[in-house]
Amino acid sequence: MTPTDSKALRNAFGHFATGVTVVTTMGKDLETGHPKPVAMTANSFSSVSLDPPLVLWSIDKGSKSYGAYTNNDHFAIHILHSGQQDLSNRCASRDIDKFAGVEWSQGIGDAPLFDDFSCRFQCVVEHRYEGGDHQIIVGRVLDYKCKTDHSTNQPLLFFKGQYCDVA
Ligand SMILES: Cc1cc2nc3c(=O)[nH]c(=O)nc-3n(C[C@H](O)[C@H](O)[C@H](O)COP(=O)(O)O)c2cc1C
Repeated sequence: MTPTDSKALRNAFGHFATGVTVVTTMGKDLETGHPKPVAMTANSFSSVSLDPPLVLWSIDKGSKSYGAYTNNDHFAIHILHSGQQDLSNRCASRDIDKFAGVEWSQGIGDAPLFDDFSCRFQCVVEHRYEGGDHQIIVGRVLDYKCKTDHSTNQPLLFFKGQYCDVA
């Protein structure tokens, strides 16, 4: 098949099973200019390099929070566990308060940090690359933390457009 139909191509890409992350940064309220926490669900995350420690993810240039991630070089990536489908859905929705009722604090560069995660990386942008309708963001890992307790042990997985469990 030639890749002319975006929906069919998206479905084809969806055959690649991934984990799910939520990426956060500190943006600005457009009206008041006050700091405003920003979060979005992303499964484009990949580890890149151990030395230097690099990761990447890509952001849709059409997403509402694109400006926040391009104006701020600090971000945090939270790898989600299987109990975090609600957070994933919320952070994949437009025009809602993604931080309502969620425990969070501020990390390096003011990036919002959720308390609940499987593993969390605090990063600063090392490179930005053109990626068609996405921008590819390569970040240097400045700090990271992984949890080892039972409740965070199973990953949240995404396959063919749906969440699924490890068999
Ligand atoms: C499982 C899953 C993975 C996603 N991965 C990405 C991604 O890697 N990059 C991206 O730009 N959008 C991704 N999205 C879509 C965004 O989460 C969604 O467009 C969200 O509304 C963006 O936030 P915003 O509207 O506040 O900008 C994904 C959505 C889901 C459900």
